[in-house]
Amino acid sequence: MLTIAVTAESADETRVAVSPETVKKLTAMGAKVRVQSGAGARSFFSDDALRAQGAEIAGSAAEALSGADILLKVRRPAAEEISQLKPGAMVFSILNPYDDRAGLEALAATKASLFAMEFMPRITRAQSMDVLSSQANLAGYKAVVDGASMFGQALPMMMTAAGTVPAAKIFIMGVGVAGLQAIATARRLGGIVSATDVRPATKEQVQSLGAKFIAVEDDEFKQAQTAAGYAKAMSAEYQKKQAELVANHIKIQDIVITTALIPGRPAPRLITKAMVESMKPGSVIVDLAAERGGNCELTVPGQTTTVGGVRIAGPITLAATLPFNASSLYAKNLLAFLETMIDKKEKALKVNWADETVTGTLVAKDGAIIHPNLAAAS
Ligand code: NAI
Repeated sequence: MLTIAVTAESADETRVAVSPETVKKLTAMGAKVRVQSGAGARSFFSDDALRAQGAEIAGSAAEALSGADILLKVRRPAAEEISQLKPGAMVFSILNPYDDRAGLEALAATKASLFAMEFMPRITRAQSMDVLSSQANLAGYKAVVDGASMFGQALPMMMTAAGTVPAAKIFIMGVGVAGLQAIATARRLGGIVSATDVRPATKEQVQSLGAKFIAVEDDEFKQAQTAAGYAKAMSAEYQKKQAELVANHIKIQDIVITTALIPGRPAPRLITKAMVESMKPGSVIVDLAAERGGNCELTVPGQTTTVGGVRIAGPITLAATLPFNASSLYAKNLLAFLETMIDKKEKALKVNWADETVTGTLVAKDGAIIHPNLAAAS
């Protein structure tokens, strides 16, 4: 019988790779889902709730792992965990494959097939498997909520007998998945919202959400989107023009949410120290690019700092602060991927190793690191 193991994550991870809903669906496909007791607790999935949908609750990680065909994790597992699986087992996680090469090689040496969920190709058919989108959407929402709670003023305009409370001005920099959700959330909370990006396609998206689009719309801007839908790194000349525009706009903003990223590069620096100093005391910056160095020069990843009365938050994996939602959506991403690999009639694994979703995410197999993105590094 196809056995899927789910073990507890490290103490600093709130999410889990399975939900009652996905246990039910995996069980219906003929798999046995073995979850380590307590693994879902921080996402508010109790052992009983998982058991009620068909999960087998294991007393320890070793018991859950022993002889399993598949391991589902949020974060990169340890080599010891993998070595307890069936030889050649499949492991799915947010693998962070560019970090700790030696650790990745140790994992590969177990001969497990390692899948990095963050490498899922951004093709229409794989949207339901896209963990970057599912988590970025939640992060975009939470950045606005956190920014609002740090801001010592209300967001919507309120006309009261005692006077008028003005609406807050909220500026979103980078309009990908996180930025779009940030705009929608900021609008719902009653802010006056503006947004910027270097990809022309975002202009209409920003405007359709009722926000004002601000950008340097020159010839370079018209070419800024890659075939994969991502932003290019912009020239020094563009960056200078962009900085001038941003400098004038940012000094009148109350809350700034930054989400700008370029694949495989450090986050672009969009907010300088001088720009922060031009902002009013009490303003807030939430820098979602903190993990990749930050869009603001003064961001300290994982911390909130105050400079001249402006608070700058640099949260890491903000989606994990909504563990119920983040785990539910991540578990659904994994389920959607697994569904393509399980023969429902035979109730057995049937992987199409040539499929784009498999070749795109498969980092290591049979003891070797095989992904093209990782081949050169060593
Ligand atoms: P991301 O996280 O790589 O970047 C966030 C945003 O920052 C992007 O919109 C990017 O254009 C912007 N940015 C980069 N440099 C900038 C700069 N110097 N100034 C201002 N903004 C800058 O992007 P994300 O959220 O992962 O999405 C990228 C694209 O992929 C979007 O077009 C999105 O719609 C698309 N997508 C497609 C999917 C699919 O078809 N399966 C799934 C998810 C996203």
